[in-house]
Amino acid sequence: MNTLLDQFTQLKQALEGKNEVEALATLAELFPGEVVFSSSLGYEDQVISDMIFAHHLPVTVFTLDTGRLFEETQKTLQRTNKRYDTHIRAYYPDLEAVEAMVSSKGPYSFYDSVENRKECCFIRKVIPLNRALKGAKVWITGIRAEQSGNRQEMEQLEWDEAHQLFKFHPLMSWSFDEVKTYVKANNVPYNPLHDRGFVSIGCAPCTRAIVEGEDFRAGRWWWEDESKKECGLHAR
Ligand code: ADX
Ligand code: SF4
Repeated sequence: MNTLLDQFTQLKQALEGKNEVEALATLAELFPGEVVFSSSLGYEDQVISDMIFAHHLPVTVFTLDTGRLFEETQKTLQRTNKRYDTHIRAYYPDLEAVEAMVSSKGPYSFYDSVENRKECCFIRKVIPLNRALKGAKVWITGIRAEQSGNRQEMEQLEWDEAHQLFKFHPLMSWSFDEVKTYVKANNVPYNPLHDRGFVSIGCAPCTRAIVEGEDFRAGRWWWEDESKKECGLHAR
């Protein structure tokens, strides 16, 4: 019987020695119609979108619109769709769940407690993500090892037990400079907030610019204890 471990090993072998575009193409070929890419429209994700769209790879690209994104992020979505003549799929949170949360706790409940913040992330990101991943066998993300201590322990190819699919992070070993160089060299549309000190960009009320010397993710949920900073999209 072909166990999960066998499948994982075979897949790892199939990707070995391939560059990012070749690896994405191999995944799309091995799992037709079952490869999805989640884009936050940030620097890393724009690189991956460029690889997918420029090479016409059959990968479904989606974004989670939490309803609290920066206007600059929305405009980046618009520019990306235009540039590649595509329609990135947008997933939205459940209307009634947002209505109930905001009606009972107000529009900034996430500043009051970690519990409230996680509730908001769960409603606005995690549930829509689960819908977006339905039926997928491979989930592509823009995670890089350099982004945080946790992410340094991650592998480019992983088995995601919670979602029961393979997770592939093509840029895992890329440096931030490599990402920026790719964006520039390929004239990839990017979020203008990156030019104003924003590195990792999430929802507007929960993201700030960072200053030199700060960690990549220091501008996310900056009011919280480091160990709690996790929105639930990724296990780490
Ligand atoms: S988070 O867990 O803190 O929110 P981060 O912003 O570092 O994640 O992004 C890591 C990866 O998660 C991105 O490369 C992307 O694949 C996915 N992601 C994060 N936010 C979104 C979003 N709003 N829509 C789609 N994918 C997202
Ligand atoms: Fe809510 Fe902030 Fe999480 Fe966005 S990042 S879903 S606004 S708590």
